[in-house]
Amino acid sequence: MSSKPEQFSQEVAGFMGGGRCFLLAKGRVGLYVGLRALQLPRGAKIVMPGYTCMVVPSAVQFAGLDPVYVDIDPVTYNLDPQQLETETRKDIAALIVQHTYGIPCQMAPLSQWAASRSIPVIEDCCHTFGSRYQGRLCGTFGSFAFMSGQWNKPFSTGLGGLLLVHDAEVADRSAHIIATEGHDPGWLKNAVLHAQIVTYRALVRPGSAMLLTSLYRLCNKYGLAIGSSSQGEMKGKMPARYLTTLSPCQVSQGLREMTRIDDHIRHRTRMVAFYQAELPRIGLTPLPSDVAQGLPLLRYPVRVANKQELLDLAARARVEIGSWFEVPLHPAGTQMEWFGYRQGMCPEAEAASREVINLPTHPKVHANAAERTLAFLRKFARPT
Ligand SMILES: Cc1ncc(COP(=O)(O)O)c(C=O)c1O
Repeated sequence: MSSKPEQFSQEVAGFMGGGRCFLLAKGRVGLYVGLRALQLPRGAKIVMPGYTCMVVPSAVQFAGLDPVYVDIDPVTYNLDPQQLETETRKDIAALIVQHTYGIPCQMAPLSQWAASRSIPVIEDCCHTFGSRYQGRLCGTFGSFAFMSGQWNKPFSTGLGGLLLVHDAEVADRSAHIIATEGHDPGWLKNAVLHAQIVTYRALVRPGSAMLLTSLYRLCNKYGLAIGSSSQGEMKGKMPARYLTTLSPCQVSQGLREMTRIDDHIRHRTRMVAFYQAELPRIGLTPLPSDVAQGLPLLRYPVRVANKQELLDLAARARVEIGSWFEVPLHPAGTQMEWFGYRQGMCPEAEAASREVINLPTHPKVHANAAERTLAFLRKFARPT
């Protein structure tokens, strides 16, 4: 009989239709391991969208590589294939594509661009588990994909990450790196994570999400909870025991989530259809139907002219509205220059950071909460 971690890995690989799945403490750690396993020359350039979480370029740097930012398409929020065509550097060693909010990237032109340079494609699937591009699941196109099991991601293991490798040699090397350098989370971390998962399950609802998130960040700052990123990481400092594997309570939570993943995908798809139909009625612009139709988006992005004011009002009214990405390398406060990002590099990403809020589609959002969100937006949101 297989162990629980083996069972979880096999279930994820089975869902994705193949590959070898490794269980890690965070999604970024999956990227780090996969990049190391590609054995790229030190200092090689890795192209990625300039609209992401800062832990993505930091993982690239921790692997001894150099992030290069390409701007996004203002409609899909994904790396713009036309912008990529203008990228002429010779020393690019890999392309990271990110299916932002669960919207699939234009994989045909992006894969073609990478193939023309004989470089691997890496899929950042931290926002997606179930979106498809031309009928094929996101996460199955590249040499490897990484996913996040963080609280607000498509399936949650509390915190956590998955590395799904499609290339057999890269998979063997990943297994070796994890076996020789990986840390076990240990019983204390397992116990704290377990307590956090139970608390999250019991307390977090659309009405309490923003308040509890602020409280959680505060606890993390003072070392009272296990959080997503350390202060040092935001300045490019590699945390101790960065390469840690998933703890037993997270594996159990992952297995639990896998039993419900199809229901969750259906729920998110219904929520997307709801926002698609309702946003025009309150004067806000929905995603074009060919971008959003039938997709289980993680969050539903909407542009507004008064983002910060709206977020402040939403926090007071206890309406769950998300702010990512706040800056091209989220969150606000990141020393972006540490990661090689200079203001003005990606104008579309900077405009999106100023204007885009996102609406929840997760399984705890039901008709009442969604109606409340819309009533709030009708009253306070100003269209761009
Ligand atoms: C697009 C994107 N990629 C990667 C990550 C990293 O995931 P994790 O926090 O599990 O490392 C995040 C985190 O929010 C993200 O938004």
